[in-house]
Amino acid sequence: MPEFFHVADVADVSDPGKILVEVDGEMIALFHVGGSFYAIDDVCTHDGGPLVDGELQDYTIACPRHGAKFDIRTGAALSMPAIRPTLAHDVKVENGSVSVRIREPGSGPSGNPAPASVPAVGAVHAVSSQKEDTTTRSHDGTSANTTSANTTVGAPAETQSLTTQTLSEDLVRELLKQVKDPELFVNIVDLGLIYDVSFSPAPDQSKQLVSIDMTMTSPACPAGPQLIADTKRVVNTHEKVADVEVRIVMEPPWTPDRMTDDARDQLGIF
Ligand code: FES
Repeated sequence: MPEFFHVADVADVSDPGKILVEVDGEMIALFHVGGSFYAIDDVCTHDGGPLVDGELQDYTIACPRHGAKFDIRTGAALSMPAIRPTLAHDVKVENGSVSVRIREPGSGPSGNPAPASVPAVGAVHAVSSQKEDTTTRSHDGTSANTTSANTTVGAPAETQSLTTQTLSEDLVRELLKQVKDPELFVNIVDLGLIYDVSFSPAPDQSKQLVSIDMTMTSPACPAGPQLIADTKRVVNTHEKVADVEVRIVMEPPWTPDRMTDDARDQLGIF
């Protein structure tokens, strides 16, 4: 069983306030709010942003990089682009001394009695449960829309007619709504990942080359290669498309503001 490490005196942290402490080699964000102390990993689960540098409002800390919010009491991810909780740790306050005990990933509440000023801590997965609810959503197996186990490509009934309609940016965006982020189960158009769609004549003059500027919610997005492949595949189903080029652009960086209201509804963000 890991032990508690003294990290600060109560007087060291204003209320409300936050400081960065090191516990057993881990960087921990320590918060003092409403007379109680809380500790979570100083790591945003979206892309590693330093949470302690973010804005603290009541029991919520906002990542300074792209704005994901976390509950400092539980580590729960409260808003996009983070979908996984950051780890919360046990805190003990005795005789003006604040101590933290590192909790291992996946461990439950310690069961040790906690001082009145230290709340029970338990990680809550705010949005990822949607994945469990929706893992059965998948393509219908048609060859035009086959996909890997990692990325969801829908195949709405109207797809076939879309592939014969006049080629335009709006039509390409409609086609791309079949490509869904594998973790969020929201299509890449409503997520705001498609920045630009342009056309140029193909050698076969009856067809077009399509160029798509696309971004990711983070530079290290593990679903990136599959999203690119699915984007190409879906647009290539149009009878007037000769080829598809996808360029990944990180400027301007993606922010949750780029999501449509539909995406917000699906993610339960208001
Ligand atoms: S790194 Fe925290 S929101 Fe992106």
